[in-house]
Order: sequence, then C-alpha cells, then structure tokens
Amino acid sequence: MQFAENVELKMLNSFGVKAKARFYAELHVVAELKQFASIIQDNPKPLLFLGSGSNVLFTQDFDGYVVRVASKGIKMVSETDDECLVEAAAGEGWDDLIQFCIQHNLYGLENLSGIPGTVGSSPIQNIGAYGVEVADSIHQVHAVRLDDFEELHLKNCDCLFGYRDSIFKNELKAKVFIASVVFRLSKQERFALDYKGVADEVKRISPHKTDLKAVSIAIKNIRNSKIPDPTLVCSAGSFFKNPMVDVAKLNQLLVEFPSLIYYKVTEQSFKLAAAWLIEQCGWKGYRQGDFGVNQLQPLILVNYGDASGKDILLLSQQMQQSVFTKFGIELHPEVNIF
Ligand code: EPU
Repeated sequence: MQFAENVELKMLNSFGVKAKARFYAELHVVAELKQFASIIQDNPKPLLFLGSGSNVLFTQDFDGYVVRVASKGIKMVSETDDECLVEAAAGEGWDDLIQFCIQHNLYGLENLSGIPGTVGSSPIQNIGAYGVEVADSIHQVHAVRLDDFEELHLKNCDCLFGYRDSIFKNELKAKVFIASVVFRLSKQERFALDYKGVADEVKRISPHKTDLKAVSIAIKNIRNSKIPDPTLVCSAGSFFKNPMVDVAKLNQLLVEFPSLIYYKVTEQSFKLAAAWLIEQCGWKGYRQGDFGVNQLQPLILVNYGDASGKDILLLSQQMQQSVFTKFGIELHPEVNIF
C-alpha cells in the first residue's frame, strides 16, 4: 500500500480544473484505512477523501493526502413486508444504487436519479432534488473514526441533517471515514410527484402506469433539460445553496421585488431561489474565456476548457458580491472549496 506523489487531479474532479495531490491513493476495502493511517501518522498532513469529485473545487494544489474511495458493494441487509434495508459501500456510484432500487422495486430514492457522485458523499451534503432529500431514506451511516479506528453507527437523528448539511460537514468534518450507508426503503408503492413539472413528465412518458422506472426517467429528462450534462460540461452542479430568510426579510424584499421566487420552509423561514437572485443580477449565460455561468440554470458555474479553480472562485465571489449589493442576501457555496 503506497501513496503516489504529485498526482494530477484534473480527471478526478468534475470541474476539470488542474490541481496536484501531494500524495494520492485509492481505497478499495475499508481494511486499507489502517495502512493509510499509519503512513499519515508518520508524516501528518491534511487528508481528503474523494468520491467522484463532483462537489469540489480545487483552487490550488492539495498539500496533503487525497484518498479516492473506490469500495464497492450493494446488498439487502434485512426486510419486513413493508420495508427493506439496503447497505451500499461508500464508493458505489449514486446512480448504480438507484438502478439497484429500481430492479428490486424499492421506493424512496428515485427522485434523486441522475445526481452525479458516490454513495459515501450523499449524506455529507444531504443531496436533494425534486422534493426529496437523501436524509428522508437514510437509516444509518457506518463510519470509522480516524484517530482510533472506532466504528461508528450513526442513526439518522445522529447525523443532524439539514438542507445540504449534516454533522459530516461540521463536528465530524475530516474526523471520520464514511464506509457505507444503510438506506430504509419502502416495498410499498409510494411516489413524491409534487415538485413542479414532475407529475406531468411522468404522465408524458408513461401515460397509463406510474412506476419506478418511469419516475426515474422523468427525473433524468427534467434534469437534462435544466442542468448541463456532466459528461459534456465541466461543473459541480449547484455552486450555491438556496439562501434562507426570515419573514421580516422576505416581506422587505417583496416590497421591492414582487416577483421574487421563494418557498415556505417553516412559519418563520423561507427559502429563496438563488437561481432567480443570480439571474436578476445579470449573470445568466455570462462567459469570460474558459469559465462562466450556465445559461439555463445560473446556479451552475462552468469550466468550458482550461479555467483554473481560482478563476471559478473569483467568479463565484463576484456573483456573491452583486447578489449582496442588490438584495442584501449572502449566498453560501454548496461546493467544497480547497
Ligand atoms: N429559476 C429562475 N431563473 C433561472 C433558473 C431557475 O428564476 O434561471 C427559478 C425557477 O423558475 C424555479 C426556482 O428558480 O422557480 C428553482 O429552480 P430549480 O427548480 O431549477 O431548482 P433550484 O432550487 O435552483 C435545486 C437544487 C438542485 C436540484 C433542483 C431540483 C440547490 C442548491 N439546488 O435547485 O440541485 O437539482 O433544486 O430539485 O438546492 C445540486 O445540488 O447540485 C443541484 C443541481
């Protein structure tokens, strides 16, 4: 077991920006973690576990250890008449898990079809789309504490899930390795079709029957119509989170901007569509050389060729500044920036 030195990460991050890892290795089975740790203990430096690199922006070389998680395996661990627990290794592709669920008629994750990334990253930012968050289906996260290799079995409530947030982004950041995730999925037919446009697209492609496959295809069609194909366009999906405001701030904004797009989260808190705020500031379709803002979904920043991470970071900061100047709203990145 050895780390390679000065490894280029361009092909290992979906932004496709150049950055070198001082040390790089791949982890295929969890047992390898101890070997990595003893090497790291002898020469301590920052450690980064990388899934498919679809939610990171490297703005410089990473002077530490990058470990790409490549562990595989999806299995049903128990079932009742109504539910099934499915455990998937961290390195499994997210969409491979969705395909497994479709094959076995398990309901709960289908609205998250087509999201790039791996299973192990899914709880960290609590991935979400089309009215569903992965937290709704997570039963447990199996992790290994990096300082003493203690196995942790975090229940859903231990993970402190929030909107694109969890304990893994906060208290446990860089302290644990996520080895696998156990999902609680329904064997009974149940769909979440309320998000704008989803029910219509399902009906369009399968007029007489709503099933998992139809929903999954419908979701992918909707994604493809709004979000650039990650195999063709280098991006990391939404760069910013949708900001939350309280009722006072919302009312103040509505006076000046009556067409503001917002959603009620609780009686007191509202989520604003960051895409709308960015569009109003004139960023939609903006391009400067090799980097810019997607013309359909301005939450997505794009590397059109040879942009650097610093170029993209600078663009994101300019966007944050103009949204703040116009609306008094701070946009926070969803992407992990290194
Ligand atoms: N909108 C505009 N202008 C635009 C684009 C959109 O005003 O140019 C408005 C839309 O009309 C809509 C609202 O913004 O009313 C929301 O747009 P959309 O449905 O595309 O969703 P989003 O809130 O912008 C979130 C997630 C996406 C996820 C979609 C669909 C975040 C940060 N992003 O985007 O997730 O696919 O919902 O559920 O929550 C990701 O996390 O990487 C990601 C792509």
